[in-house]
Amino acid sequence: MRSLPGLLQRAEAAPYSLSREELAWLLRLGPGKDREAFHAAACRVRDRVSGPNVYLRGLLEIGSVCRKNCYYCGLRSGNPQAERYRLSGETIIESALQVFRMRIGSVVLQSGEIDSPEHTAFIENIVHRIREETSPDFAIVLSLGEQSEESYARWRAAGATRYLLRVETSSSALYAKLHPEDHLWRTRVDCLRALRRQGYQVGTGVMIGLPGQSLEDLADDILFFREVDADMIGMGPFLPHLETPMKTAPASEEERLCLAVNMVAAVRLYLHTCNVAATTALQALAEDGRERALCAGANVLMPNFTDIGHRRAYRLYPGKPVVDEISGETPLQRLCASIEALGMKVAWNVPGTPPHFRA
Ligand code: 5AD
Ligand code: SF4
Repeated sequence: MRSLPGLLQRAEAAPYSLSREELAWLLRLGPGKDREAFHAAACRVRDRVSGPNVYLRGLLEIGSVCRKNCYYCGLRSGNPQAERYRLSGETIIESALQVFRMRIGSVVLQSGEIDSPEHTAFIENIVHRIREETSPDFAIVLSLGEQSEESYARWRAAGATRYLLRVETSSSALYAKLHPEDHLWRTRVDCLRALRRQGYQVGTGVMIGLPGQSLEDLADDILFFREVDADMIGMGPFLPHLETPMKTAPASEEERLCLAVNMVAAVRLYLHTCNVAATTALQALAEDGRERALCAGANVLMPNFTDIGHRRAYRLYPGKPVVDEISGETPLQRLCASIEALGMKVAWNVPGTPPHFRA
């Protein structure tokens, strides 16, 4: 039908050189030689732009309270079975400093969406304190949902440098099927633009294998990442949660994993200089899910530093690994060993700012 070597060669040579149809065609590749060549090309691009480095971000799930009611998420406000908690400021600051002391280049503060003046001030104060007690190039990353541009500005001024806000899907029609009426795709995109205006490094991403999602939709997602000028991409397979309205997935676990890893490779081949995460949701489907993404062009891992009790309560989706994760020196060493076994190496004490942002 078409020449894969020619297509990969063109994609490797320069970013943005694949069409929507070509991206969709690559996404369809199943296990075999062609798929291996596709992933190898993505890894060569990754190695060229950021070396064989894996950048770590220490994840802190700082609260499971959420005002939103997304149909797929275990933390939706309409789920009475979800366990709700909010960590204290002191706990958050102490945990962030622990991440810093472990020579991890950045910390991510993530929670459900809360919008109140008190919350804005609470986060502002925490960011300020972490900024004061860490080195200037330690990256403070926020993932706290849709907020006013003023809140984004205050947190930025306090010292946050990055923000993660997944668009979930670039199709506004599909977005409308996954959310209640008052959750607007437009607002989400406006937030991404506001973050850009405020000088954040912006991370976004989508879920893969959603009901009603086509390969062309996923190709459009990749084009969208370029359009919003994203610096970092975090994507994972859709994992149906029984305590939500979306209890089933349209494809098998193996198919969703295969597609999600293909998305990592396609994003790398199209965008070249962005950071791409090997997400925990991949690990929920296969023990080596994140490693498979690293072998397809990803260069970021987000080990979880939330204490085990709260980690268990922060259940966005089922099957989220709880115990087999980082929270001390030894598990971290184990993770490093698995990274080194892939021929990559952990980049300690560096923020790992993507070349895309530096440009
Ligand atoms: N499956 C996979 N990912 C999910 N998320 C929420 N619920 C699910 C689910 N059921 C993801 C969303 C959100 C991120 C914090 O978690 O993409 O942006
Ligand atoms: Fe809240 Fe995020 Fe879950 Fe939506 S996906 S319900 S905003 S935690």
